[in-house]
Amino acid sequence: MAFATRPFVRAASSTAAATAAAKKLIVKHVTVIGGGLMGAGIAQVAAASGHTVVLVDQSDEILKKSTKGIEESLKRVTKKKFADKPEAGAEFIEKTLKNLTTSTDAVAVVHSTDLVIEAIVENQEVKNDLFKRLDKFAPEHTIFASNTSSLQITQLANSTTRQDRFGGLHFFNPVPMMKLVEVIKTPMTSQKTYESLMDFSKAVGKSPVSCKDTPGFIVNRLLVPYMMEAVRLFERGFWVSFLATPSPEMPLIRQSLSLYLHRIFMG
Ligand SMILES: NC(=O)c1ccc[n+]([C@@H]2O[C@H](COP(=O)([O-])OP(=O)(O)OC[C@H]3O[C@@H](n4cnc5c(N)ncnc54)[C@H](O)[C@@H]3O)[C@@H](O)[C@H]2O)c1
Repeated sequence: MAFATRPFVRAASSTAAATAAAKKLIVKHVTVIGGGLMGAGIAQVAAASGHTVVLVDQSDEILKKSTKGIEESLKRVTKKKFADKPEAGAEFIEKTLKNLTTSTDAVAVVHSTDLVIEAIVENQEVKNDLFKRLDKFAPEHTIFASNTSSLQITQLANSTTRQDRFGGLHFFNPVPMMKLVEVIKTPMTSQKTYESLMDFSKAVGKSPVSCKDTPGFIVNRLLVPYMMEAVRLFERGFWVSFLATPSPEMPLIRQSLSLYLHRIFMG
């Protein structure tokens, strides 16, 4: 009997896993809107990890600047990553740049994209207008994500008809260096969308953390009161001499803080 049931159980569980995997969207083509500080960084890491990327901005001049910035950043990354293998480094840069194109026409490029990541100016109305427009031209399966730091993802999602295929992807600056990505799930974000965004974050070499659609998400929520307290202490005359000169203790304070935060979150 055991002989008969074991393959059946194995087959059933692998079928369940296959169905779950089939439900997720494997992102291959990414459209990044906004070629500034964050958008250029996001486009770089997505292209470097083998995705086909179109970077969109308002003018060719801006995009030229974004591409130049990406090339310089890739050289810095390569210098470290391929210190002993300059040929492999050159090949890595060439491959990455081959995966990346630019455009000034978002509507024209979203028709074949799997994921749109918005990283434009931090303005609710401008972002809503963009998402509303793209919603009409992007395919049914396309996921929309915003890199906003302070706006509510739910409000952005409400400007579209794809609230279930909408989430937050909050990267940190500088994107090629910072490992964390906050993946924001609204009450309308589907599990498939959420898992696809988590997988995409991992695929670009990041460590995603799951987060609700709350003001400041995780890191900025903690950072603001932390900075305010530092200002208050400075105003009261504490730490003045400590902060005035580069201190060898600073990395130790940072280490202790991160250890406490780790204990709070991870138990
Ligand atoms: N700077 C940071 O440290 C940081 C960190 C995390 C998240 N963010 C968020 O990322 C987003 C972008 O921030 P940034 O610092 O990269 O800004 P930025 O000013 O460097 O870049 C914004 C880019 O968007 C372009 N743009 C504006 N409107 C556009 C439109 N309608 N279509 C296409 N392109 C358009 C601009 O020309 C500009 O190049 C913001 O929502 C911000 O809150 C910023």
